[in-house]
Amino acid sequence: MNIVYEKVMNCYNVIRKKTDFTPRVGVVLGSGLGDFANKVEISYTLPYSEITGFPISTVPGHEGRFVFGYVGKTPVMIMQGRVHYYEGYEISDVVLPIRLMKLMGAEIVFLTNAAGGLNLDFQAGDLMMITDQIASFVPSPLIGENVDEWGLRFPPMHEIYEKSLQNIIEETARQEKIAIKKGVYIQLSGPNYESPSEVKMCQILGGDAVGMSTAVEAVAAKHIGLKVCGISCISNMACGISKTPLSHKEVGEMAAKTAPLFQTLLYKSIEKM
Ligand code: HPA
Repeated sequence: MNIVYEKVMNCYNVIRKKTDFTPRVGVVLGSGLGDFANKVEISYTLPYSEITGFPISTVPGHEGRFVFGYVGKTPVMIMQGRVHYYEGYEISDVVLPIRLMKLMGAEIVFLTNAAGGLNLDFQAGDLMMITDQIASFVPSPLIGENVDEWGLRFPPMHEIYEKSLQNIIEETARQEKIAIKKGVYIQLSGPNYESPSEVKMCQILGGDAVGMSTAVEAVAAKHIGLKVCGISCISNMACGISKTPLSHKEVGEMAAKTAPLFQTLLYKSIEKM
């Protein structure tokens, strides 16, 4: 049997023994954004450490548990703390939670992250709705034997971020009077932040925000038939645009500062999904 498939199924079976919760929306919370889970009417929480075989995040500020609950009437499964490629996991492990969300019954995945701003019209503290992405600097999570039950060998990526979900987010932002930018997310492997020349490269390639997560998750999500949407919290302007050296602490603090608006936008959008 395919070992990637087997690992996901084993995790699924562990979770299903503990809860029969069926989410509609899977939510992945990025650095400094984990607090959102406390706004949810929580039904059940499950630390990743209780799921045999599940990759555990080692990044400070990432809690490491699933939260099952309701946003309004919408049943959600929230990842409070994600796994990154730079932690040394296989790329298939990095996207394992996304595939789990689909197996649990989710139809939509809402990806969030803290990211560095590349677009000169942005500033730290902005929210950016992701309209497309560049994932070419990290391995595709689809490399290896295809699991036909999950998706196509050569899946199209013409509309990774579903237009209908983008419309919901934009409409919600308008209603809540929250300013949002739109743009292309580019993923580099990290864990080092970019050099000024790498930032320039990302700008030339058409990126509006740069980060170390999300794009591979979106590819796996699209492959397995989840509808995808995403928001980046611009926690800082990328290196070279911002003159001060970056730190993970600063990124977390700035992301946390944008948290109230971010949480409102996320909550009110998910209510409509
Ligand atoms: N670069 C990459 N990832 C990030 C950044 C950045 O500037 N800020 C937050 N995550």
